[in-house]
Amino acid sequence: MANIFFIGFMGTGKSTVGRALTERIGWKFIDTDQEIVRREKRSIPEIFASQGEAYYRELESQVIADVARNDNQVVTTGGGAVLRRENLCHMRKNGFIISLHATPEAIIERVRNQSDRPLLQQGELTEQVHRLLRERAGLYDQADLIIDTTTLTVREIVEQILRAP
Ligand code: S3P
Repeated sequence: MANIFFIGFMGTGKSTVGRALTERIGWKFIDTDQEIVRREKRSIPEIFASQGEAYYRELESQVIADVARNDNQVVTTGGGAVLRRENLCHMRKNGFIISLHATPEAIIERVRNQSDRPLLQQGELTEQVHRLLRERAGLYDQADLIIDTTTLTVREIVEQILRAP
């Protein structure tokens, strides 16, 4: 297997699970948002504020395309990576895609006191989460494995992944 890619809405546990899985299988861990920050030398909120979402989406696609050229990596993507078909194509061609789901209530609880997600700073949190989930309906189902993380521990999620065919 070339790579394992995680997709999923904000707050579904991609980074936590991705890191825990990496510890178990010893592959390289790459978070595409961290890679963007490294390349741009500024934070995600700064990029959104100064150049806007469209510019950020270009960077995100570039990083996914670059990362997909290598092997044996666990790659966690931002929640909006599914918005572009080309991103999913790169992931599908070069690895196994795991989608993490969670209920809107669990997502809201997990992201509530975090200020690093520009798309959730634009209005009332509950409304924003429901609106984005509606806009993205179905996009998080395009995966080889779907796991609902709402009531599972990180260890249980990692075990499910390791048991997957
Ligand atoms: C986004 C999710 C964030 C980050 C950016 C946009 C999205 O990543 O990429 O704020 O569009 O859902 P996480 O899913 O890791 O929070």
